[in-house]
Amino acid sequence: MQSIAEHDLGTPQRRSATQVTLTVDGREVSVPAGTSVLRAAAEAGLSIPKLCATDQLEAFGSCRMCLVQVEGMKGFPASCTTPVAEGMKVTTQNDKLASIRRGVMELYVSDHPLDCLTCPANGHCELQDMAGAVGLREVRYGYSGANHLDAPKDESNPYFTFDASKCIVCSRCVRACDEQQGTLALTIQGRGFDSTVSASQAESFLESECVSCGACVSACPTATLSEKSLIKAGQAEHSVITTCAYCGVGCSFRAEMQGEEVVRMVPNKDGHANHGHSCVKGRFAIGYATHPDRITKPMIRASISDPWKEVSWEEAIAHAASELRRIQKKYGRDSIGGITSSRCTNEETYLVQKLVRAGFGNNNVDTCARVCHSPTGYGLKQTMGESAGTQDFDSVMDSDVIMVIGANPTDGHPVFASQMKRRLRQGAKLIVADPRRIDLVRTPHIEAAWHLQLRPGTNVALINALAHVVVSEGLVKEDFVRERCDIESFDKWREFVAEPRNSPEAMEAITGVPAASVRAAARLYATAGNGAIYYGLGVTEHSQGSTMVMGIANLAMATGNIGRRGVGVNPLRGQNNVQGSCDMGSFPHEYPGYRHVSDDAVRLQFEQAWQVKLLSEPGLRIPNMFEAALDGEFKALYIQGEDIAQSDPNTQHVTAALSAMECIIVQDLFLNESAKFAHVFLPGSSFLEKDGTFTNAERRISPVRKVMRSKSGYADWEITQLLSNAMGLPMNYQHASQIMDEIARLTPTFTGVSFEKLEQLGSIQWPCNEQHPQGTPTMHVDSFVRGKGKFLVTEYVPTREKVNARYPLILTTGRILSQYNVGAQTRRTENSTWHDEDRIEIHPHDAEERGINADDWVGIQSRAGETVLRARITPRVQPGVVYTTFHFPESGANVITTDNSDWATNCPEYKVTAVQVVRVSQPSAWQRRYQEFDRQQQSLLDAAVHPRQAAKADSPAG
Ligand code: SF4
Ligand code: SF4
Ligand code: SF4
Ligand code: FES
Repeated sequence: MQSIAEHDLGTPQRRSATQVTLTVDGREVSVPAGTSVLRAAAEAGLSIPKLCATDQLEAFGSCRMCLVQVEGMKGFPASCTTPVAEGMKVTTQNDKLASIRRGVMELYVSDHPLDCLTCPANGHCELQDMAGAVGLREVRYGYSGANHLDAPKDESNPYFTFDASKCIVCSRCVRACDEQQGTLALTIQGRGFDSTVSASQAESFLESECVSCGACVSACPTATLSEKSLIKAGQAEHSVITTCAYCGVGCSFRAEMQGEEVVRMVPNKDGHANHGHSCVKGRFAIGYATHPDRITKPMIRASISDPWKEVSWEEAIAHAASELRRIQKKYGRDSIGGITSSRCTNEETYLVQKLVRAGFGNNNVDTCARVCHSPTGYGLKQTMGESAGTQDFDSVMDSDVIMVIGANPTDGHPVFASQMKRRLRQGAKLIVADPRRIDLVRTPHIEAAWHLQLRPGTNVALINALAHVVVSEGLVKEDFVRERCDIESFDKWREFVAEPRNSPEAMEAITGVPAASVRAAARLYATAGNGAIYYGLGVTEHSQGSTMVMGIANLAMATGNIGRRGVGVNPLRGQNNVQGSCDMGSFPHEYPGYRHVSDDAVRLQFEQAWQVKLLSEPGLRIPNMFEAALDGEFKALYIQGEDIAQSDPNTQHVTAALSAMECIIVQDLFLNESAKFAHVFLPGSSFLEKDGTFTNAERRISPVRKVMRSKSGYADWEITQLLSNAMGLPMNYQHASQIMDEIARLTPTFTGVSFEKLEQLGSIQWPCNEQHPQGTPTMHVDSFVRGKGKFLVTEYVPTREKVNARYPLILTTGRILSQYNVGAQTRRTENSTWHDEDRIEIHPHDAEERGINADDWVGIQSRAGETVLRARITPRVQPGVVYTTFHFPESGANVITTDNSDWATNCPEYKVTAVQVVRVSQPSAWQRRYQEFDRQQQSLLDAAVHPRQAAKADSPAG
């Protein structure tokens, strides 16, 4: 539990190696050069009154509250904008200063509502604090002059209000939006008395460019910008530091609490991944955790056409275990399996794979990372020796050129995008390789040097063309390659990429990217100093996903862009714990720490620890489980926190496989799409209800802390433990920390990790062991994890998914800022205000050819199926390409995606589906079936959860 108020040192920390010593009110203090006098005083324990300054933003010097006297300097400089100097002598308190500050405060207060007692910020308002600090006792000008007390409120944003009557025009919100968020949605309009904060072109917050990150709300020193939840509930009485459960950035938050109720989530200034910043999801979209749709009692049913029946935990667990045993007895050991989730904690994921390997006696465990970043694990392991990104997020601040490939950070990884944009505004150059004109290509004060707008499915052709330029124009960092890499593999690769067929000119016909742009982008990346690559699912979710990851690693190694700050190969992981679920041994062929199940020494170690004999053969991957289910060989599945029926490709194939099984056990918060095919429902816990850890895209392990009791009675790891014990594999963990202790004992890269150390350090980047007791921000510093970096030949092989006269367009998919993946969480929050349906984006030419107008319903037909969405006509997509998000189950985005997948890992080829798009007037046949099935399943649920309402609704009078 933390104190609620955070200490504010007034201006940002400076990182200069030069220390400057000065005296403040006679106290000697040494600080890095460039530090402000205000911050130096705060570090010496002296607080100077301030209003417009905060340590999250550059000083602005507008309020004149922080004036000081400096020996030898004329007048009263503002301490927030005055840098320290060697030997400086500063006075912060005397009668003259006190009188000036009181005068300033008097002016502010004369135009401020005097409703402190009923104000939501009462007791936590900096204006109120400063009035007290300067000893303001009277306002000589009275309160009746011209003022802003009737200024209107803007309550358009669902999460916060803007009450202009309380604004002191300190501009902290404007600077937060500019500097911290990088959206530049706010300005101060007007001059002098008429100055006022304005969103975009004097629009409401909701209609403006605002992305609802909340940075301005955090920055506001008054109640002008306040969370609606705070206004409603009042101030919190305690807070707990925890980690966001949405995306792979892994932002740290203070959950501010009243008893067991979350009053608000405040981004943690000490958070190593977010440094006090957040996005609309982590900060505001937590209402799902207490949503009435939550199922909190275990339920069972014999078949999916039966109503659910609520039962005790004992009965549910005993039933699940006996079904699993019955099925294994009847159909064999390998007829059952489990799926872990990248939403769940490391400890939960570890236990599920342990239960499968040691309790089910097979290796049939897989994870949702199969469908997103499995090629990352494979490709990076092959080339560099470790299945993870190479940098921490802060490394981007040392990059000179940033290449973003197949990722949309402003929507998918917004807090990291803000940091990246900060670096780009400082002058780093940007290359974007994406079929779509993502926001980053052109955003306030940022313009990509090159947008390589390739055709979906041609990544490998593009990376080979970039590499061709590097090797044929003498841009290889020969020293680095000779010293750090496997020369034989390098020579082979060099010879391959140098072939004329890999030149930008030859590849132009395939990628659609002008050769001159590819040449210029390659030169920029290879010569600009520190070159960093960030990539996402636009790289991995292809038939050549693993090849492309290896191609990226080849390019980074050839140009020496590995092993120091500012460079690297950085997969932007989608979900909060994708990295962790892979680290924890969720893949059928690997134990925790990416060690193959066929490795005798490793297997023996696990056999001794778990006291069971383990199989040396890899188990089934998710797509193989589906195939085996359709063949009648795979009959039961334990799914923790994952919704394969919505998120996996070719929905009709997935649902046929689920329907073919005899026992599906779903552990989740809601009756998700997979649970509609389930026979046992085990109610899970939200991240607010349990202890554990998540590992973000930087390999950073961060604590998740319980802030309220579990609504179902158990944390998810406890449910797995109950099931394991009922299956005959004894588990007796009393706390998640004991699971992490076992992980640390069995995983070389985690040896030094413990809850105790996380408590001390806040977070840890693995590897954390004897060689790296504090963790590892940058990988492969002196040598690669595998020894020498290995180059692999990356032959471009076109996807089997071809456009033709029947399917002439390519559909590609992605995410949007306000929604999150399958939407189960964000759809149950006010985030749907911004995005309440998935739409199909189509280029104006393609739309015109088909007679499609904006908002028309259009059918999207692929070789796998058909669905219907409304059209958005936009030049963001290139002609020949259409795009959609996949946040709503009824959209059926995965009804159209196919079974094609990455050759090495089976990661689905979500990003390339040949389709036709036509105007239609009604939902697709699949959508009509879905609606009917959904209605049925909802009523079967209501029969268990709300039996009285259901009975009433079904009665003739109902
Ligand atoms: S919420 Fe974020 S994006 Fe919106 S105005 Fe405030 S700082 Fe800018
Ligand atoms: S809204 Fe708050 S932060 Fe912005 S200018 Fe007004 S008082 Fe300052
Ligand atoms: S950027 Fe990601 S981790 Fe951070 S608050 Fe947003 S969703 Fe959560
Ligand atoms: S705090 Fe320095 S001028 Fe406002």
